[in-house]
Amino acid sequence: MSAIKLHHHSASNPVIRTGQASPSVSRAREFAASFAVAGFISLSLLGLGGWGIYSGWRGVVDQRRAAEESTRAHERLLAAPAGPMLTVDEAVRGREVFSGACVACHGPDGKGIAGLGMNLVESDFVAGQSDGALAQFVSIGRPTAQPMPMPPRAGRDDLTDDDLRHVVVWLRGLQDPRRLPELPAVVAAAPTEAQKAAALAAAGGDAELAGWIASGDKIFHTLCVACHGKGGVGMQGNGKALVRNEFIRSLDDDALLAFIKQGRAPSDPKNTTGIQMPPKGGNPAMSDDDILDVISYLRSLQGNASTATKSQ
Ligand code: HEC
Ligand code: HEC
Repeated sequence: MSAIKLHHHSASNPVIRTGQASPSVSRAREFAASFAVAGFISLSLLGLGGWGIYSGWRGVVDQRRAAEESTRAHERLLAAPAGPMLTVDEAVRGREVFSGACVACHGPDGKGIAGLGMNLVESDFVAGQSDGALAQFVSIGRPTAQPMPMPPRAGRDDLTDDDLRHVVVWLRGLQDPRRLPELPAVVAAAPTEAQKAAALAAAGGDAELAGWIASGDKIFHTLCVACHGKGGVGMQGNGKALVRNEFIRSLDDDALLAFIKQGRAPSDPKNTTGIQMPPKGGNPAMSDDDILDVISYLRSLQGNASTATKSQ
């Protein structure tokens, strides 16, 4: 210690000037070296910490930017040049899947139904997802969402991956109508051969009645099925069973027509589920004739189809 002091104060010290190591100088170097090592270690520790802080901050910035972008995803979609035109074929298939599996909760125009499904047209979530991710989402749903879940595969285990791909095409068209080609009018694709055969059996061979039942079957399984299930067997937490249903049996065709046109709001004292039966099953485009066909089909589920009548 005293030696170091001494050298400090003796600038003319030849040993220092020649740079030759003396015991005291090497001790100073040792000190410097250990200081450098300590400094290196603590700097790198600091650096790591600093990197952590920096990348944490970057993360926050990135997240905020992503959030800002995702909250404006639909707006930006419409502000950008339109994506490629969708094909008529794919759009029609997508519309068919949508009106069978999604309309019940998201509405015929996709703008949502209060208390059921949300607005998909202005959804930033939809706008921000790739086609593949969106199909994947519909497949998984949000089964635990409150107050109302989005059921996996819309509650329809018969939907194929191809159906999901097409429904995504339809969502793209709903979000950006510039991409939609002109499409043929909706409603009543022809009943299948199986539906025709079942209807003829239910109508006891009456060809005219069978025609109504088959058409009603087709409409039912495009629209009402989302909430009332295949064959009208009902769906847990949604539409009631319509098979051998007292309410249906108690009404004549006119009264049933009036009921289906009006639906039954959750606020209606007669509502037992707290869930909405939407007017016209959620499709305002249905004519009285369409609904009467559905009624003929409903009659065929009551075990006394041969007494079904059409009041027109
Ligand atoms: C039984 C009702 C029901 C049916 C049927 C249904 N959904 Fe949903 N869906 C919901 C509900 C409820 C939500 C919102 C869940 C939540 O709170 O996050 C939702 C959310 C979504 C979302 C996310 C939207 C967003 O902005 O976060 C998409 C996409 C979606 N549904 C697509 C579909 C498609 C496509 C179909 C038909 C194949 C369909 N849904 C059928 C009830 C339904
Ligand atoms: C969005 C779901 C949804 C759709 C789509 C839907 N219903 Fe319903 N429906 C319900 C619910 C929920 C109820 C039960 C309401 C209640 O609690 O009283 C109901 C009740 C009914 C009832 C009365 C049953 C009874 O015992 O009181 C009939 C009849 C009926 N629906 C027919 C139809 C027909 C026909 C269609 C298609 C054109 C249709 N529904 C489409 C949800 C739906």
